[in-house]
Amino acid sequence: MRLGLIGDPVGHSRSPQMMRAAFAHMGLDASYETVAVLKEELFQDVGQEPISGWDGFNVTIPHKVGIMGLLDDVDESARTIGAVNTVVVRDRKRIGYNTDGVGYLRSLKQETGINVPGQSVVILGAGGAARAVATILAKEGATRIQILNRTYSKAEELANHLGRWTTAKACSLGDGKEAISQATLLINTTSIGMHPHVDQLPIPEEWISPHLLVSDLIYNPKETPLIQKARQKGCEVHYGLGMLVHQAAYALELWTGQKAPVEVMRRVLEESLI
Ligand code: ATR
Repeated sequence: MRLGLIGDPVGHSRSPQMMRAAFAHMGLDASYETVAVLKEELFQDVGQEPISGWDGFNVTIPHKVGIMGLLDDVDESARTIGAVNTVVVRDRKRIGYNTDGVGYLRSLKQETGINVPGQSVVILGAGGAARAVATILAKEGATRIQILNRTYSKAEELANHLGRWTTAKACSLGDGKEAISQATLLINTTSIGMHPHVDQLPIPEEWISPHLLVSDLIYNPKETPLIQKARQKGCEVHYGLGMLVHQAAYALELWTGQKAPVEVMRRVLEESLI
């Protein structure tokens, strides 16, 4: 089986290590190549070797939206998010999926034991990652979702999108304190606190209280400033690494129809980040 990754850049990606370790563990005869594809060369490159010969591939920045126009079909998981991160080739047809939402949900449930129905959620950020996470939580039955974002119009747009599944509302920064005080689950999807800016919090420290489960999508560093503060205050925490592992594992399941060795993939990723 020939698999791969397209994006620009692709050199920093940990997917090849994770995938190759998984293939070895599964006894799967498969390869995983990475190909740097410039934004303006996507159309041309996907029609040529090596990409044209692949049985499936991952898609990363800057092609998650652009690839949608070059596929035979787009699964609902990708359509509701508006971005594709995994392409499955079935009967010579290319079908787009997005595994981020399922990846996040599996990680959250497995690592915290949380029951999503009944949760009141505040999401920090309104970009692509926020959309994936918010959509899956809304579909899974979260009672209420509030979106807090620097650009209010983007929060409003995401809240509108979620409205068909749950009670959703955009929140201005000024209302953030009150929104979070009513929440049970706080999720950071912004890049604030990401390496090398490891001294920044996405919200004032005083807004974090012990009743919250605090989840940060950032996986480098593992202990973000938000996670550190939350732990100091006695909150339960959920790390970003799990989503990265589970979205890759789910992509592998879509390609092979087999269960992916999640713990093997997690170990490889953790070791690559030390
Ligand atoms: P991703 O695909 O990782 O979600 P994105 O689509 O670029 O990335 O979204 C990044 C999110 O983080 C946005 O919600 C962005 O806020 P804006 O909509 O106002 O741009 C938020 N974000 C990034 N850097 C930020 C910063 N320094 N302060 C506040 N919000 C920030």
